[in-house]
Amino acid sequence: MIRIWTDGRPAGLLERSGERGSTFVYSPEVDPARAVSVTMPVRLASWNMAFGIAPIFEMNLPEGALRERLRLAFAKATGTFDELDLLSIVGRSQLGRVRFTAADAELDEGVPFQPVSEILEGRHGGELYRILIEEFAPYSGISGVQPKFMVRDERAFTAGDPAGQVLPPSFRGATHIVKFWDQSEFPQLAANEFFCLKAAERCGLQVPPHRLSEDGSALVMDRFDLRADGSYRGFEDFCVLNARRTEEKYAGSYEAGVMRRFQQFARSSDLLEESLRLFTLIALNCGLRNGDAHLKDFGILYDDVEGDAHLAPAYDLVTTTVYIPADRMALTLNGSNQWPSGKNLIKFGEKRSLGSRHTLAARMERIRDALAETAKDVEVYGKGHPEFADTGRRMVAQWEVGARDSLSLR
Ligand SMILES: Nc1ncnc2c1ncn2[C@@H]1O[C@H](COP(=O)(O)OP(=O)(O)OP(=O)(O)O)[C@@H](O)[C@H]1O
Ligand SMILES: [Mg+2]
Repeated sequence: MIRIWTDGRPAGLLERSGERGSTFVYSPEVDPARAVSVTMPVRLASWNMAFGIAPIFEMNLPEGALRERLRLAFAKATGTFDELDLLSIVGRSQLGRVRFTAADAELDEGVPFQPVSEILEGRHGGELYRILIEEFAPYSGISGVQPKFMVRDERAFTAGDPAGQVLPPSFRGATHIVKFWDQSEFPQLAANEFFCLKAAERCGLQVPPHRLSEDGSALVMDRFDLRADGSYRGFEDFCVLNARRTEEKYAGSYEAGVMRRFQQFARSSDLLEESLRLFTLIALNCGLRNGDAHLKDFGILYDDVEGDAHLAPAYDLVTTTVYIPADRMALTLNGSNQWPSGKNLIKFGEKRSLGSRHTLAARMERIRDALAETAKDVEVYGKGHPEFADTGRRMVAQWEVGARDSLSLR
């Protein structure tokens, strides 16, 4: 049995049920403000799943290399290895405000200290990834296929505040996400993502503070769900909002699965502007030629599960067509995975009543400008880092195609 915690306090119990399912029950008299998800209000009746665990509990389970690493390290002890086993390992150190422990255990995140500067300086060379994954895999309640983990360096965490607020001395949670890449599959992925995030920032989108290591091997990001006082914001991705399993992250459309769902769950005094930001992010993905923007690559962020909920900062932006030239969109628009024309993007915005043609066209023009500006940065970086130059050139070529075919009204 697993105890579920929200906001640092017990909220309920989760256990296996049936052949392959699970049951979750809230503890008696838990306050509605302690619900695990905006999709699962506090109630007396249990929440049952015939297969696996509820999407909010599955949301941060590692995929890819990290999952495999944990399976190899821990499967022997338990014999089998299912989602609850994985939760009992990484559950105490997760993104967002939900945590998991054994039923009789206290909650103690206890993430080891790791100076971010050592990662940025590329100490230990090619060994860095191997050394870090060894130590940090069990503290990395984070989804995604790319090799990554979570570390703690409270001195390098500013909560987005340039004045550099300091976390309380007792804080032992993870502060940063470190993303690496596999040379044989996706060369220069960290730099690719770094410049895509730069373009997003230039479009006026919020992005988490992020840095590229000197040797280009790692991208280090501040957690956007961590507050300066050491408490956590609620974060839920669009698999959760669509009641989908992680394995269904590629199933859905931008119309229903993302935009309409956002407008259903977002609560904001300026929902129109926030929806326009989401429109910008979707259009930017088309301009960048990011073919991997699936339901887990969009999210909402909130302080109070019953209160306002906003679009989370942009993350996981990559020009995937550098590696997979024929890549298409992960989700559909107008029933198709083909990159949309600028006209179709505008139609999409008009149908969701996001503004006039003129307003939407102006957003797209801003994205084109952001891509053109960022292309200059890519070129400069490529001169100083010859190993990136080829990837950089190909990124810029893709952005030019994206801007011409998906962001212009020809
Ligand atoms: N700065 C951040 N703060 C908090 N949570 C984040 C942040 N960046 C990413 N996340 C969360 O971590 C998850 C994994 O990150 P990301 O999508 O970058 O990994 P990935 O391995 O590239 O994913 P994919 O499998 O889509 O390729 C995201 O889905 C999101 O839930
Ligand atoms: Mg992702």
